[in-house]
Amino acid sequence: MANKQKRKLRSQGWFGGADKGGFIHRSWTKNQGFPDHLFDGRPVIGICNTWSELTPCNAHFRRIADCVKRGIYEAGGFPLEFPVMSLGETLMRPTAMLFRNLASMDVEESIRANPIDGVVLLVGCDKTTPACLMGASSCDLPTLAISGGPMLNGKFRGEDIGSGTVVWKYSEDVRSGAMPMCDFLEAEGCMSRSAGHCMTMGTASTMACIVEALGIGMPMNAAIPAVDSRRYALAHLAGRRIVEMVDEDLRISKILTIQAFENAVRVVGAIGGSTNAVIHLLALAGRLGVDFKLEDWDRLGRNIPCLVNLMPSGKYLMEDFYYAGGLPAVIHELGDLINRDAITVNGNTIGENTSGAPCYNRDVIRPITEPLTSQGGIAILRGNLCPNGAVIKPSAASANLMKHRGPAVVFENIEDLHTRIDDPSLEIDETSVMVLKNCGPRGYPGMAEVGNMPLPSKLLKKGITDMVRISDARMSGTAYGTVVLHVAPEAAAGGPLALVKNGDYIRLDVEERMLNLEVSEEELARRREQWQKLQTPYHRGYYKLYIDHVLQADRGADFDFLVGSSSMEITRDSH
Ligand code: FES
Repeated sequence: MANKQKRKLRSQGWFGGADKGGFIHRSWTKNQGFPDHLFDGRPVIGICNTWSELTPCNAHFRRIADCVKRGIYEAGGFPLEFPVMSLGETLMRPTAMLFRNLASMDVEESIRANPIDGVVLLVGCDKTTPACLMGASSCDLPTLAISGGPMLNGKFRGEDIGSGTVVWKYSEDVRSGAMPMCDFLEAEGCMSRSAGHCMTMGTASTMACIVEALGIGMPMNAAIPAVDSRRYALAHLAGRRIVEMVDEDLRISKILTIQAFENAVRVVGAIGGSTNAVIHLLALAGRLGVDFKLEDWDRLGRNIPCLVNLMPSGKYLMEDFYYAGGLPAVIHELGDLINRDAITVNGNTIGENTSGAPCYNRDVIRPITEPLTSQGGIAILRGNLCPNGAVIKPSAASANLMKHRGPAVVFENIEDLHTRIDDPSLEIDETSVMVLKNCGPRGYPGMAEVGNMPLPSKLLKKGITDMVRISDARMSGTAYGTVVLHVAPEAAAGGPLALVKNGDYIRLDVEERMLNLEVSEEELARRREQWQKLQTPYHRGYYKLYIDHVLQADRGADFDFLVGSSSMEITRDSH
């Protein structure tokens, strides 16, 4: 394989010189024990690793990286692993999303600054996937993503329990008195019992499916459990394949085309995927200069039925999804709804990869003629309460609330909600519309996953399980309910959400894609004059950079200065 390359590779700009620079670049790298022949012009493959013990979902990534290295060496490449900022959804405060753009900058600059010809991204926990894809897109090298795989099904007292989804349910049960605290604590260890990311169709599983649907991951990337030997075989094969991709100059921009984005939207509908996918795909498209907009989610996903019977929309978990045939079976079922000619990392089209893909369990992956729900896609709402849009996931909402008119009960911020939600004197009933302000990109900051507000315990005790909730926040992909999210512009940016008062009537009509505040324009103008900008305590560092430059949800909450494609070029050396 050595010296087989006809093109002079990018890495030779570092390792190929017969001068002082070449000496420096080779000599210091050799201190790791690499022999001379590895610097002979073979493809250098960066393995971008989001491993961290603070990101439990990615804690097994060193083993995956070792398998990728095996494949790279086998194909004649030279693997060099590097760490990037990891984003653990469960531990990071105030929210991992605040750091997605920062991590993407780390990925972008780490790739560009180093002698790398192609890159393998190891992704898993929610934000690690979009951060790595966004950063790599801004460099545009041959790129292949490998997801870490889901945890095994949670098992608690004979029942399968899903990451996240069960947390929301059990915590409400504890608040209503239906579950004792000792049971609640016992369930913790039963839910997360193996390596891997959340095994519901939450954001991590949705993003893993998107990796596969975009064609930037190998077939079956999404579903193989993290502890299954086939996850490691896939990593080995991916290592082999990235070397060929460098040879073919199959860059990320050749794969992430508008056709690939259209496929991803339709797949998100068919899997009942997370609303967070909306934000991440918009941001990713912005990096590549692909003409993909918020409206496209509705246009492309509106009539896509939900075929996958997984929590939180259904009853199974990712392990079952794998045994049932995984995403290839879903894409096969979607037939001509998919752009079958879209190219993927293995060199085949997505149509070729999924042609004849079998399904082994028709209750887990439904036929398109008998879907789980007829509307799996994510609905985009418009109206005077959300001039730049808002989203709702119909498959996770209650049918009886999809058309609803009710009086607003307003919480000014998350602390206000926590303080008053269980106050017995709170004037609220099941017809009320809960409104939460100042939880958007700038307001929180970072647009936390707090949009699925807890219901008041006095209503839970009455047996109420869902209410209309509206905010500029996001929601965990594992959550459910009639929850309107991503209202844009957000309250902290002076959007109409900031002007809502207790008792104002709000009308939601999901079928009509409408969200309106029934307050006259004159009254809203009066309130707008009185509105005062949120006082932020963030005057320095990354928080300030974020607040000053983050775009609104309808633009993917990326930084304004990161939008637009860049390149791998770097013209100056360090010595
Ligand atoms: Fe990491 Fe859910 S917390 S994927």
